[in-house]
Amino acid sequence: MKVLVTAGPTREFLDPVRFLSNRSTGRMGFAVAECARCRGHETVLISGPVSLDFPEGVRAVRVVSALDMLEAVRSELSCGCDAVVMTAAVADWRPEVRAERKLKKEESPPVLKMVRNPDILVETAGLRRGCVCVGFAAETDHVMESAVRKLEKKELDMIVANDVTRPGAGFEVDTNIVTFITASGEEQLPLMTKAAVAGRILDFIERRRRERFGC
Ligand code: PMT
Repeated sequence: MKVLVTAGPTREFLDPVRFLSNRSTGRMGFAVAECARCRGHETVLISGPVSLDFPEGVRAVRVVSALDMLEAVRSELSCGCDAVVMTAAVADWRPEVRAERKLKKEESPPVLKMVRNPDILVETAGLRRGCVCVGFAAETDHVMESAVRKLEKKELDMIVANDVTRPGAGFEVDTNIVTFITASGEEQLPLMTKAAVAGRILDFIERRRRERFGC
């Protein structure tokens, strides 16, 4: 099986040295890629800028912005994939204009006009047909309602909801507290290492493929 994983944050530049980003370290996505490779699956890991080493045996694709990540995901899906796990914390907006030179502090502070980034999962829904698709939802409030909305809008087999306000969950830690949500129900998991969460995600993908294709 070929598994495509995205990880990390994206960076949205306003000039050559300054960007908007988020707290994702890539740990959740790297754990999924490592687990997929350990189970013998061909694994491609598309990651925004992180300070982790790519796992041995995984094909690494490094990207910076949301637009780069969309391009890389499109290109991999066009070559064929069996499963997609989108753990990346993709920026929803980017500055409309990226200055060509470093903005000088003596100038008046910039007023940023932001534009919406494309939603990678929505944009690639057609190319993902036949893949088992898992997304993540990092939420601070209305966790379950928001995650269920994303499961449907993004046409996923499963969404992994994490309440990133809980200690031990979400960004910058080695553990997570997640709820698996599918069309047929939810399963709340206890505090686990990201490696253990990755194992449960791979179990789901392998089970779903067996149900769908008998393999
Ligand atoms: O990297 P770590 O420090 O280990 O932290 C892990 C994590 C918190 C980043 C991870 O567990 C997580 O929750 N990732 C999703 C983060 C998020 O902000 O998701 P979202 O609710 O904005 O997006 C929902 C889904 O759509 C995600 O699968 C996302 O990859 C995808 N998306 C989002 C925006 C966009 N423009 N295109 C997308 O495809």
